[in-house]
Amino acid sequence: MVEEVVEHKPPDKFTSQWKNYQNEALKPTAVLLDDLGSLPAHRISTGDPELDKGLGGGLVSGSVILLTGQPGIGKSTLMLQLALSVEKVSVLYVSGEESGEQIKMRADRIKKTGKSCYFLPETRVQKILSEAVRLKAGLLIVDSVQTLYTDDLDAAPGSISQIRDSSFQLIRYAKESGTPVMIIGHINKEGDIAGPKILEHMVDTVMHFEGDKQYAYRMLRVMKNRFGSTDELCLYEMQANGLRPIANPSELLLSQNEELLSGSAIAATMEGQRPLLIETQALVSSAIYGTPQRVANGFDNRRMAMLLAVLEKRCGFSLAQMDVFLNLAGGIRINDPAMDLAVVAAVTSSLLDKALHKQICFAAEVGLSGEIRAVSRIETRILEAMRIGFKAICISKYNVKGWDPAKYKINIVPLGSVTEMVEKLFGGDHS
Ligand code: TYD
Ligand code: MG
Repeated sequence: MVEEVVEHKPPDKFTSQWKNYQNEALKPTAVLLDDLGSLPAHRISTGDPELDKGLGGGLVSGSVILLTGQPGIGKSTLMLQLALSVEKVSVLYVSGEESGEQIKMRADRIKKTGKSCYFLPETRVQKILSEAVRLKAGLLIVDSVQTLYTDDLDAAPGSISQIRDSSFQLIRYAKESGTPVMIIGHINKEGDIAGPKILEHMVDTVMHFEGDKQYAYRMLRVMKNRFGSTDELCLYEMQANGLRPIANPSELLLSQNEELLSGSAIAATMEGQRPLLIETQALVSSAIYGTPQRVANGFDNRRMAMLLAVLEKRCGFSLAQMDVFLNLAGGIRINDPAMDLAVVAAVTSSLLDKALHKQICFAAEVGLSGEIRAVSRIETRILEAMRIGFKAICISKYNVKGWDPAKYKINIVPLGSVTEMVEKLFGGDHS
């Protein structure tokens, strides 16, 4: 314990001090925002057009990017590809997890060579930074933050204080030298390992790499970006020779069947700035056991329960004794409320065992009273549906405002309620 003497100054003296702003220590330093010059936005291309787009046009100098994801999802592969494809600057790729031979094997696998990519197997921050300075690296990649440690602390690598201190030093290096730094952070199944969570506040950009390991598709979501828009999505496919960016995801995520089977409906969703048509499949069958199962893959379970309740209440379907399974193509997870109508259509189609027409797609939210609600960026969705070759799109009647539906060469079906949708698409009374 250390004694600390608190000095009490008379209040009037304090007041007079801040009032007298000519005082040397209190010289005015605030400036008008308008008078400040802005830095020229210098961006380095990553050599991967998808990633460049996701980052808002490339890597900003001095920015710190955190890439999180579950082990085995492909973070190291993505970073190595980037290290080998960045042009014009030298890259220092630091790994505390893999040896040089392992990295070399991976580089051979993705069939890329980088003339100015250095490799350093190291976990000590001081050494990493001194090598970065020595090599005048234009980009520093660190895999992973959980292996880092700094001499200044006694704590073990991976502990919160080590993660915080080590990354703080990396961030300070980035800001002082203007070098972009990319840090990989593991996240466990629940997505809440303490390390990367505290980092999210410290870094400029947070990207999350995700996907179902049984499928080859991987999604890179931009969760936070001080130099671009969030909610950006880059899609990749993991192949035997590395990750391949998917430029036209809609074509890939639609089934190749000539005829749609019952239980399928196509949703015109938006992921960030990008329209994405995706097939929703539902299976409704009688529950054998007491409690019916409700399982959704790629869609929020509670949202599905709500939509089933709406169908039950508004359309008179009895789903209480039914198992309901819902699946999105490719193991992809979508958070767009405009998925609702496609989910409702898929469930109804499976329940009635009536297939929908293959060339109809859906884009609308469903409310608790069964009303069909407007969604954002409807015209982008319509254009994408047209581009892929759909003949009709069901949207909310409240979305048909301020633009002329006749200007699109696609049949626009405005709907007001779920009952109206069921009547129009499946005909008759089903209650
Ligand atoms: P990795 O980048 O090591 O994952 P992370 O760093 O997120 O833990 O990727 C691991 C998986 O990717 C591994 O199971 C093998 C697979 N893979 C391919 O399918 N093709 C490839 O070209 C490479 C390099 C990896
Ligand atoms: Mg790895």
